[in-house]
Amino acid sequence: MPAYAVLGAHWGDEGKGKVIDYLAENATVVARYSGGNNAGHTVMNDYGTFSFHLVPSGVCWPHTQNVIGNGVVVDPDVLLDEIKMVRNAGLPGNVFVSDRAHVIMPYHVVLDRLEEERRGKDAIGTTGRGVGPAYVDKVGRQGIRIGELLDPEDLSLRLPDIIRFKNETITKLYGGEPVDADAIFEQTKRWGAELKPYIARSEDIVGSAIDGGENVILEGAQGALLDLDHGTYPFVTSSNSTVGGMLTGLGIGPRAFAGVTGVFKAYCTRVGAGPFPTELNEKDAHTIRNAGPVGEFGATTGRPRRIGWFDAVAGKYSVRVNGMDSMVVTRLDVLDGWESIKICVAYELNGVRTDRFPIESVLLGRCKPIYEEIPGWDGSTAGITRPEQLPVGAKRYINRLEELLGIQANMISTGPRRNESLELRPSIK
Ligand code: IMP
Repeated sequence: MPAYAVLGAHWGDEGKGKVIDYLAENATVVARYSGGNNAGHTVMNDYGTFSFHLVPSGVCWPHTQNVIGNGVVVDPDVLLDEIKMVRNAGLPGNVFVSDRAHVIMPYHVVLDRLEEERRGKDAIGTTGRGVGPAYVDKVGRQGIRIGELLDPEDLSLRLPDIIRFKNETITKLYGGEPVDADAIFEQTKRWGAELKPYIARSEDIVGSAIDGGENVILEGAQGALLDLDHGTYPFVTSSNSTVGGMLTGLGIGPRAFAGVTGVFKAYCTRVGAGPFPTELNEKDAHTIRNAGPVGEFGATTGRPRRIGWFDAVAGKYSVRVNGMDSMVVTRLDVLDGWESIKICVAYELNGVRTDRFPIESVLLGRCKPIYEEIPGWDGSTAGITRPEQLPVGAKRYINRLEELLGIQANMISTGPRRNESLELRPSIK
C-alpha cells in the first residue's frame, strides 16, 4: 500500500516542489491534499522553471496523474491559467481536480484583504489569495464545490443568497465595495465549462493506484508549523498541512502509508507574522536570503522571507505530529562558506531550559534559543550528487540534524534543479 507523504516540516517554503519533481520519477500519482494557491512550488528541470500554485509537482513526468484533492481550495482562474501554462510548456503529466474541492470565490479574496486590513498591526500576513475565507465557508457550510460549477441551474438557486450575505458583510461590517453577483454567476458558468474535462472523483484515482500497488506521492503544501491545529495558532494557514490532512483531504486510509518524509531546509524561514525563536538579525538574514541561486523571497507573493538558524526543537515536534520516518534536507549549499553554524537544541522560557515546543504562540514568542555551534565547511556543496563529494563539515552537520531529530536523511538537495540532488537512500521503495 504504497503512499508516500512528502511534507513541509517547519513554516513552509522548504523546497517540496523540487523534491517531489525528483521523486515523481517513481510514482504514478502525485496528489495535493490541502491549501490552495497560497502555495508556490518551484520546479526546475529540462522543461524549464515553474512555480506551481495548484498543479501538483509531478506534472513534468509523462507517467503521472496529478490530483488536486477535495481538501484543497481552488481559485478556478488560477487553475485554468496553470493548466494552460502546463500545456503550453509541453509538460506531459495529466491534471485532475476533485469535484469536492471548494472554490475560492472572488468575495473570498476581497474578504481576505479586508480582514487583514481590519486586524491592522495584528495582521497574520496572509498571502491574500482568499484561502482562509474559503475554508471558513467550507466549515460554515456555505461553500461552493468544484462539482457544483457543472450545474448552473442549481447554482443559480444557491448563489444569490450567499452573495447577498457576503455583500452585507463586505459593505456593512468592513465598509468595502460590494461584489457583482451577476458577473460572478457568469464567471461560475465559464469555470464549469472550462474545468469540466479535469473534474474527477479524486479518491477513485488515488485509491485505485494504491490498491494496484502503484506509488503515490502525497504532496504537502505550507509546513507543519502553519497547520491549523498543530501550528503556531493564530499565525497559521486555514487547513491541515500535517499528515492527518492527507487522509481527509484525499479520502485515503492510514494503512496506505509506506513512509512519511519531512522536507527540512538546512536553516529555517518564515513568511508573514508569528513567533520565530531562531530569527536572525537583518544583516545575517540578508546574507542567507541572497546566497544561493534562488533567493529567499516568497514564490507566491515575492515577500522577503524571515530567516533563522535550524530549529531542532520545532523540528522534533514536527517529526512527532507527522510520524515522520525520514527527511530530506534542502538548500544545504546556501550554508557554504559559514565559519560556524548554529542549531537551536533547546529554548529558555522564563529562565528555565526546555526542549519541548510550546504550542501557544505567546509562549513561543518568549522563548530564547539555546544554540549548539558547530564548525562550517570548506568547499562548495552546490550541485553535488554523490556522498563522497560532501565536505566533512557538511556531513557532520547533516548527521547532527539526524541525531537531534531521530530520523535519517534520505536525500540532500544541493541546488534548485532536479539533478542537483544527492540521494543517500531511496525515499520511495
Ligand atoms: P494564508 O494561507 O494565505 O491564509 O496565510 C496564512 C499564513 O501562512 C501567513 O503567515 C502566510 O505567509 C503563510 N503561508 C501560506 N502559504 C504559505 C506557503 O506556501 N509558504 C510559506 N508560508 C505560507
